[in-house]
Amino acid sequence: MVVSSAPGKVYLFGEHAVVYGEPAVPCAIERRARVTAEARDDGRIRVHAEDLSLNGFTVEYSDETDAPDVDASESLVEAGISYIDAAVEQAREAAGEPDAGFDITVESEIPLGAGLGSSAAVTAAGIDAGTRELGVELTAEEVAERAYQAELEVQDGEASRADTFCSATGGAVRVEGDDCRSIEAPDLPFVIGFDGGAGDTGKLVAGVRALREEYDFAADTVGNIGDIVRSGEEALAEGNVEELGKLMNFNHGLLEALGVSSRSLDQMVWAARDAGALGAKLTGAGGGGCIVALDPTDATETALGYTPGCEDAFRAELDTDGVRVEEA
Ligand code: PMV
Repeated sequence: MVVSSAPGKVYLFGEHAVVYGEPAVPCAIERRARVTAEARDDGRIRVHAEDLSLNGFTVEYSDETDAPDVDASESLVEAGISYIDAAVEQAREAAGEPDAGFDITVESEIPLGAGLGSSAAVTAAGIDAGTRELGVELTAEEVAERAYQAELEVQDGEASRADTFCSATGGAVRVEGDDCRSIEAPDLPFVIGFDGGAGDTGKLVAGVRALREEYDFAADTVGNIGDIVRSGEEALAEGNVEELGKLMNFNHGLLEALGVSSRSLDQMVWAARDAGALGAKLTGAGGGGCIVALDPTDATETALGYTPGCEDAFRAELDTDGVRVEEA
């Protein structure tokens, strides 16, 4: 039996613009998905999941034609299962054991579909645990590549490398097209606010694409987000956290202009700023889900706790560890 874990992430800068070739800077956070893999002799896959923002479920199946019989929203279960399936497939391929069976248990501290990279974390941890259980050790970069391939498959070819690379390697990373690298970052005092909901990434990305085609201002806005990311990289290199906060505020304003914020996200962003956060912005696709603020004090977390529309607020420091073995 092997247990591996991988972190979730926030976008410090650059979501949406990264789709059009601008750079983005996601950062891993100390909220993890843990996947346990135990080989079975009969070639079947049994999945047990807990804490995925859905009531735990257990599914046993031998191939994709078996319909899981569970009491949870079908689309969430399907989404969860397809990432696990794709991770198992990658692990089998990496180990050269196409018929390997597994008991898989997933425990995650990362809300689903809320902009914190839950699927990338589950996929990376699943690939790591599955391959190690079969006696093969992959580097973080190899896990990142396989996790990206798994996401591409599940998301019909629509995935950037940002989430999977960040989750596999940890820390702050810079992603521009296929070019992914780790970058230096100071300690970042992240505070996260979660509205309990989720955005539809595909729809939100399509909305920005349409706006960008119709209006020059929207195309310029995407380019301006790229400029903010480049300034943000300098601030990160200098360890200038005040400047990072300011740039996050600009980035949120531009995402708002592109129509991907929401009332609850804006309310949480303003509550954080009013509480004295150095900066705050939505993270991920938007439409609902999470905001990220920078605040070394407790003020933002406390204020978010009283903010209408905020269901959960928590601190999550930058996690310098990517995918790692917890038990073997
Ligand atoms: O909400 P998330 O964590 O899936 O992030 C989506 C980020 C986008 O830039 C909007 C899309 C992408 O694939 O990069």
